[in-house]
Amino acid sequence: VQRESRIDAEGLDLAPQFRTATVELMATHESIRRFRPDPVPDGALDALLVAARSAPTSSNLQAYSIVVVTERDRRARLATLVGNQRYVAEAPVFLVFCADIARLRHVSARQGREFAATTLEMFLLASLDAGFALQNAALAAESLGMGTCCIGSIRNDPDAVAAELDLPRGVYAVVGLCVGYEAADCRRGVKPRLPAGATVHHERYDASGLEEHLRAYDATMIARGSYTGRQVQTGDGEQSDVYGWAEHTARRTSRPETLLGPSASLREGLRESVERQGFDIR
Ligand SMILES: Cc1cc2nc3c(=O)[nH]c(=O)nc-3n(C[C@H](O)[C@H](O)[C@H](O)COP(=O)(O)O)c2cc1C
Repeated sequence: VQRESRIDAEGLDLAPQFRTATVELMATHESIRRFRPDPVPDGALDALLVAARSAPTSSNLQAYSIVVVTERDRRARLATLVGNQRYVAEAPVFLVFCADIARLRHVSARQGREFAATTLEMFLLASLDAGFALQNAALAAESLGMGTCCIGSIRNDPDAVAAELDLPRGVYAVVGLCVGYEAADCRRGVKPRLPAGATVHHERYDASGLEEHLRAYDATMIARGSYTGRQVQTGDGEQSDVYGWAEHTARRTSRPETLLGPSASLREGLRESVERQGFDIR
């Protein structure tokens, strides 16, 4: 499959010695949402998992777990739980990356010590560990010619997901990853990002060019047709002359439920569901 590189799409002047295979791989990433039924070979799955487990981890705590889901029925049930995202059932492998302090609690008890790391910081640390592991697995999969799609909607209904995956107290599903071989013609070219000047700062944070960057990005996304037929309705009959990333994003963040898909209102009680799952957040 011919993959477009962001380096070329943005016309960046990057010397060949810096365009390593790894950089190219990352610069050609696109989320894939249509998969062929072909299974992922066991060896490929092993490669993904060793890549995931090689990710950096805060203080070597390894406060994460990965649940590998390949059973068709379970993938189908999870696809429903994440707001009917068809590709979760379609991809032959679904990896669920969890923040995990259950193992650390066990180790504390084993060593006769009290586990006192029940803080918001611990939840963030464990979630970051899970996220880094996911990104390593995703890159490994893409390097093997597979496609991936992150599924944050795994947090839509944490109790049902915990029941489906037998997650014990201290384990919280943070993000899923569909993995498989992509269907034909499912790439559109890399999704444009905000100009580097909007997200990258040198030495000190500087938002002085933001307005210009927003106008440029709106123009790029409108020209690409990114929001055609996908406009978020506000219900107040409000019209916007320019419907680009800025208007789309402002509408979505003013009604966060539109960010999260159909069953998303359930995601509101994050603190409660995280605490039910054994992370006391103080
Ligand atoms: C943490 C996280 C959660 C995501 N959750 C979903 C999801 O539930 N469903 C989905 O279709 N895409 C999901 N995505 C994919 C993003 O929509 C996608 O990365 C973004 O639009 C940029 O497009 P690209 O990955 O093709 O460059 C998620 C991405 C991240 C990083």
